Amino acid sequence: MAKVVAIILAAGSGTRCKTQLPKQYVYVAGRPVVMWSIDAFRNAISGIKTILVINPDTKELWEELCIKHGFESPRLVSGGSTRWESVKNAISTITADDDTIVLVHDGARPAVDAETICGVVETAVKCDGAIPVVPVTDSLRVLNTDGTSEAVDRSLYRAVQTPQGFKLDKLLRAYNVPYRTEFTDDASVMEYAGYKDLRLTTGSPDNIKLTFAADIQAIENILKNR
Ligand code: C5P
Repeated sequence: MAKVVAIILAAGSGTRCKTQLPKQYVYVAGRPVVMWSIDAFRNAISGIKTILVINPDTKELWEELCIKHGFESPRLVSGGSTRWESVKNAISTITADDDTIVLVHDGARPAVDAETICGVVETAVKCDGAIPVVPVTDSLRVLNTDGTSEAVDRSLYRAVQTPQGFKLDKLLRAYNVPYRTEFTDDASVMEYAGYKDLRLTTGSPDNIKLTFAADIQAIENILKNR
């Protein structure tokens, strides 16, 4: 198997979640969300290198949580003010072969499974990047500039998840441009840089991104039933 490094992003403020702790440190099924995310990668790929990106203000809290749960912390990198900046900070610290596969994962997706992770790696070695997706289950409408809206064919759309996987040299090249607001994930950065062979892989409906407080119970049920 290819050499793989996983970047777990946990430097967001998580304001939409309205919890006391930033959402990545909220407890689900007995321990902080981000510990589940990190272990998902350690369990899926033995010997994987992991990097955890956090806000330096939460470093002490993270270290206390690691002691409390007997958890071995990945190497820590300081996050930035946007997700894009957090990824850029992390990839600039990686010293590895150009063709090492870098997986970039939202730490707030603790229920990612091994099939999704391995599917991304297997595809990423063959192309410019791999993106796990799921079909859209809600009906969709597109907003027009005059304030009206129209139904669209949802079968033409996919909801994008993480981890997304790319070869290290290509990812570094793509991140070597100034930030743009449309960079909501790594695939959008790669696409802007001209990488066209981005392939979709099978994601999972369980790979929920903890965004609202109500997501906590859903994620807890998934993790407890495994
Ligand atoms: O805000 P959103 O849910 O889209 O964030 C996705 C992931 O990116 C989260 O895991 C969050 O912690 C991380 N993030 C980050 N640095 C930021 C903003 C978000 O690491 N500045």
